[in-house]
Amino acid sequence: MKNPPIYEALVEKLVRVYEEGPNQSLGVFQNPVTAYTDQARLESEQRLLRSLPIPVAHVSQLRSPGSCLVHDALGVPLLITRNREGALRAMLNVCRHRGTRLLEDSGFCKVRKGFQCRYHGWVYDLDGTLDQIPREELFPSLDKTALNLRTLPVAERFGFIWVVATPAGDYDFDAFLDPLEPDLGPLNLENHVVFRRATTTARTNWKIVMEAFLDGYHVRHLHKRTVGPYFEDHRSYSELAGPHVRAIVGRGGFYEASARNAIEDIRDFATPTYVIFPNTIFVAQPGFVSRATAYPTSLGEIHWDHDLIIPAEPQTEKARAHWELNYELIQDGVFKGEDLWVCEQIQKGLSSGANERMTYGIEEAPIQWWHDELDRHLEALS
Ligand code: FES
Ligand SMILES: [Fe+2]
Repeated sequence: MKNPPIYEALVEKLVRVYEEGPNQSLGVFQNPVTAYTDQARLESEQRLLRSLPIPVAHVSQLRSPGSCLVHDALGVPLLITRNREGALRAMLNVCRHRGTRLLEDSGFCKVRKGFQCRYHGWVYDLDGTLDQIPREELFPSLDKTALNLRTLPVAERFGFIWVVATPAGDYDFDAFLDPLEPDLGPLNLENHVVFRRATTTARTNWKIVMEAFLDGYHVRHLHKRTVGPYFEDHRSYSELAGPHVRAIVGRGGFYEASARNAIEDIRDFATPTYVIFPNTIFVAQPGFVSRATAYPTSLGEIHWDHDLIIPAEPQTEKARAHWELNYELIQDGVFKGEDLWVCEQIQKGLSSGANERMTYGIEEAPIQWWHDELDRHLEALS
């Protein structure tokens, strides 16, 4: 892959970090521990998450008509489907008669025509249109058209399916996602497939998890037994892209390759990493992509899903084994075994009184930008 222009610019900015060191003007930041322990604040944050586009799936996971995703991690029961015409629909997974959950189990599934409620048998098609009411004469003068499933804004972009989990007619997805077009557009992820989805929980506040992915400072140390040795110490560059954070971390040989003008694909020498506001992590690994989202289920727990996204279905055992190894390294070794693990260690002492504030240095500055963005959004919500 030839580097898109945005990466040419990022290479130059990262070269400056190698030559001049981290940007001292960023300064030290502190954040009160109460931000992680306040139940009322968490409820506002959860409301905020339901008001913004969240990438709930990769398009390959809902490609064929009748494929469905039942998704509950945002605290509302969502049902996302692909209809006969190939269009996506996002709805509430709740019958309009007396509220029974339509599809029971969370996760991906496939239906033939639509959904029939278990309680009295009302039938909805893949668009959520109420199709049949058994013994319809029992509902004289009922306006059936007013009882379609409640719909939610949904869009496809960058190979992901984005849903806003608040019933509404419309949402301006482009305004929210356009700042990432120069980065994610050229990756053509809509043609990729998911090798595997990992779903797990971790006993930690969701903001502590987001901080771990906005922090270039820990990479060599925390990850010293896994990917740390590939990276160069304190060689990262970050900036805002709208409400999102774009970062790049240099790996071995980056500086020398850039001096030789030999960086054909930036991912050979550095790792672009994004936090897509507010709760998604996107890492452009060499040859594949990780997209992970951290959903707060309570003050001290998250639901985590991570899709390892690869260019094409593996055709040989050798190829499958290769991705298997990558999956084990990134999901089990790095994310679960190190990043989420350390977040759980922070959570355990959060209310101990040891710290009134968390402290962040220059290489953790994106954490401050993200908190500022979060605070601004929470204020706008109230
Ligand atoms: S609650 Fe669904 S048909 Fe009655
Ligand atoms: Fe990490």
